[in-house]
Amino acid sequence: MKFIKVDSYEKLSRQAANIISAQVIIKPDCVLGLATGSSPIGTYKQLINWYEKGDIDFSNTISVNLDEYVGLSGDKDQSYRYFMNNNFFNRINIKKENTFVPNGCAEDLNAECEAYDAKIKELGGIDLQLLGIGLDGHIGFNEPDDSFIKNTHVVDLHESTIEANSRFFASRDEVPTKAVTMGMVSIMQAKKILLIANGQNKKEILEKAFFGPITPQIPASILQLHPDLTVIYSEN
Ligand code: GLP
Repeated sequence: MKFIKVDSYEKLSRQAANIISAQVIIKPDCVLGLATGSSPIGTYKQLINWYEKGDIDFSNTISVNLDEYVGLSGDKDQSYRYFMNNNFFNRINIKKENTFVPNGCAEDLNAECEAYDAKIKELGGIDLQLLGIGLDGHIGFNEPDDSFIKNTHVVDLHESTIEANSRFFASRDEVPTKAVTMGMVSIMQAKKILLIANGQNKKEILEKAFFGPITPQIPASILQLHPDLTVIYSEN
């Protein structure tokens, strides 16, 4: 594991964007595993900036996102599909049909989960997976549990996650209580993993996840077993 500490969110975003752009330049038709949340916004901004300057071309790139709220359609501004379109996809030249986000409104959610795993397999797996980390150590929406869950699945969000994510909603009651999330197999089978985190409040969970025992109670701790993991952290 490479653990890189930087002193500003700008530097974190630039370094993360550098790693992603290197991946796209080396393999233009790569599969990027992408994340939502506030952490990657600066990374996406930097990539958009380089795209606008003509330095990166996403026309052959494919993306698969980690997760989506159950019951929020892509036109709702708190949905992760909306977030990705708004913060990234609409502002670069990736083909919309090459961007995949789980459908949290599917009639049969179990079938949607199976189809999502099949799609990732059909694409040949993920070349580079970008991750944030929740305050309880969740990645995607893989919440602390008694075991690691392998496949894409429907999850009941923990109270602390609902609380943390309520800042994106008008009120706490509007936060969905369930989500669809990629499981640990697709994440761990990614060829490279890049986890970014910023802020004092993430310090403790990063210590537990990357310098403590591997346990499903801290889902991100499994990443310690990945052969090509980079963590970038900025305290500010
Ligand atoms: C959500 C997302 C995660 C993300 C986490 C942390 O729960 N499902 O993928 O990593 O929030 O978000 P933030 O970057 O805003 O702290």
